[in-house]
Amino acid sequence: MTESSPIQVSEAQIAVHWREEGYVEPAQKFVEQANAKDPAIFERFAEDKFPDCFKEYADLLAWDTPWHTTLDTSNPPFWKWFVGGRLNACYNCVDRHAEANPDKTAIIFVPELESDEHVHISYAELLRQVNEFAAVLRDSLGLKTGDRVTLHMPMVPELPVTMLACARLGVIHSQVFGGFSGTACGHRIADSGSRILITMDGYYRGGQLLDHKAKADEAVLEAVKEGQEVDKVLVWRRHPGQYASQAPMAEGRDVFVDELLAQHRGAVVDPVSMPAEAPLFLMYTSGTTGRPKGCQHSTGGYLAYVTGTSKYYQDIHPDDVYWCMADIGWITGHSYIVYGPLSLGTTTVVYEGVPNYPDGGRPWRIAEKLGVNIFHTSPTSIRMLRKVGPEEPKKYNYHFKHMTTVGEPIEPEVWRWYHSEVGKGEAAIVDTWWQTENGGFLGSTLPALQPMKPGSCGPGVLGVYPVIYDEDGNEVPKGSGKAGNICIRNPWPGIFQTIWGQPDRFVSTYYTKYNKDQDSKDWRDWPYFAGDGAVQAGDGYFRILGRVDDVINVAGHRLGTKEIESAALTVGEVAEAAAVPVIDEIRGRAVEVYVSLKPGFEPSLEMADKVSRAIETEIGKIARPKNVWIVPDMPKTRSGKIMRRVIASISNFADVGDVTTLANPEVVENIRHHVQTEKVARDDVPRELTELEFEEIKKFGAET
Ligand code: WT7
Repeated sequence: MTESSPIQVSEAQIAVHWREEGYVEPAQKFVEQANAKDPAIFERFAEDKFPDCFKEYADLLAWDTPWHTTLDTSNPPFWKWFVGGRLNACYNCVDRHAEANPDKTAIIFVPELESDEHVHISYAELLRQVNEFAAVLRDSLGLKTGDRVTLHMPMVPELPVTMLACARLGVIHSQVFGGFSGTACGHRIADSGSRILITMDGYYRGGQLLDHKAKADEAVLEAVKEGQEVDKVLVWRRHPGQYASQAPMAEGRDVFVDELLAQHRGAVVDPVSMPAEAPLFLMYTSGTTGRPKGCQHSTGGYLAYVTGTSKYYQDIHPDDVYWCMADIGWITGHSYIVYGPLSLGTTTVVYEGVPNYPDGGRPWRIAEKLGVNIFHTSPTSIRMLRKVGPEEPKKYNYHFKHMTTVGEPIEPEVWRWYHSEVGKGEAAIVDTWWQTENGGFLGSTLPALQPMKPGSCGPGVLGVYPVIYDEDGNEVPKGSGKAGNICIRNPWPGIFQTIWGQPDRFVSTYYTKYNKDQDSKDWRDWPYFAGDGAVQAGDGYFRILGRVDDVINVAGHRLGTKEIESAALTVGEVAEAAAVPVIDEIRGRAVEVYVSLKPGFEPSLEMADKVSRAIETEIGKIARPKNVWIVPDMPKTRSGKIMRRVIASISNFADVGDVTTLANPEVVENIRHHVQTEKVARDDVPRELTELEFEEIKKFGAET
């Protein structure tokens, strides 16, 4: 059994999400300078060159020992890349550039407060900081190769310093998005078996200095509840010497990093030469069941893949100023703020705050001031910036040669604003489709060689061969106009190695569905099931239609319905809970939660608020529901399953369909009337659904 409840082909016939668009060509000026401008690159990565084609990516790295086997498939689907090779990721991202170009800026830190000057950190300076912090980890904390360390840090340069110091020692870092709650962080500490938590006292968000250290105390409590002791909490200070948090420092457990660093001034720590297949980091993501998945990424394969794709798809040259506005707490930030750009020796911008602080012109002022020429963000941010300041980009004198979009499908209309206003018609755009599990891009266009098509991510990237299968494993031919499940036919170096501590779930979620022979050692028998619906046009370009499982993509990030529901169920009065997606103009999807109460409890605004706060406490603000509806009873099948599709239809003002076979059809009209009347009164009626969105809603919760 796979974890997901995949789409039914019969319901996936309609592939008209939005109209298929025409091509847009990149500007000649871009093409001339592009890293990949010779079509011979397609030959080098042709299918018959697999897997050796990826030598080209691995050759971008400095290896201590060369590998002897490019791809080892002896234990499918646990692929091993560049076997026999040894390298250090930190050395590749820092030392080698510090040797060649010590004064070159590695990181520009832009604090959220506009009155605070930005900070340039050169490669030599980065090396110094990484060495000193690695000395803290090794000599003060006794950390060693293979240990896991949880990070719960905001968008400050201390975060890449911490990650790289771990990488220097072969310590596996697990950065939890700073916006996640202490409780969510605690689950991840326990799951990864970390004895050390590294955090920061506070950070700026929307102009406020938030108290972040308080979350560390909650995280440790939660981890202990789950049987994981935390020996030490390292606290970076946003302003060294000043403590920004109200939370007390626990005696014997909590330590200020700046005080520890003082004991290691000028320390030099040799990078540990790691096997290519040693884990570099864990990145947690949501799935269909409640337990988060710690995606384990490798050192050699991962680093080679993000370096190669940064070079060809992000078109990063050493002299570019590159800004990815994602958070390093997500995979996008790991791959395309930290590891990819630094491995190429470029300048990467780390911005602390929200894009619209203090106004919608901020990103363009930053771009102008720093000379950013490559810009990378999500459709959610683009929609938001367009809403708050459609005319802002033209007021600033910046020039992007290249822009990226990632995380969710982008509407052609939004794409066009991005292209003409943000990119001033000069920038080539890549729409990059991939996932936390994938390490790097899977579907995109090579910006100088393949034209853009608004709303389509493009074909498979170099050396990656996607295919669409129907439910029975038949290939859905390109150009057929039919949707199906997008899969990748072959392994690639960036693919995650396993789910930390859950190897069976790794196999069943991603590989069992289309594997025909579980004893086969041939990678051709193990297509990777991505969990997205897609349609492929005649030219090979893919349009990604969204998740086929019960995962809600909020602002480009995955939230599992089960996680949200279990969070709601922590409220003692709640008997049952169901989370559903609702179309949202800015964030793509938002979450709505329906709960029924245990006997004896009455619905009230306070109760709804309590559920909302519980979700925020358990997961974080990102999961906070748009609405919590308290209903007398959930619509259910005769076997007692909650009909999520019915309530999802109600929330989205879509036709609920046939409900006569339900155990309690009479509740549907009551709920519909109550919810929709309220939503009309709150002026919260979503726009009319497209046919495809309607399909998505109709399928929601299909098998739970
Ligand atoms: C899911 C992965 C690693 C990227 C950040 C999100 C959706 C991602 C696109 C895109 C349409 C996209 C998919 C995917 N998605 N990029 N360019 N076009 N959909 O990572 O949290 O692991 O989510 O995001 O549904 O499965 P994630």
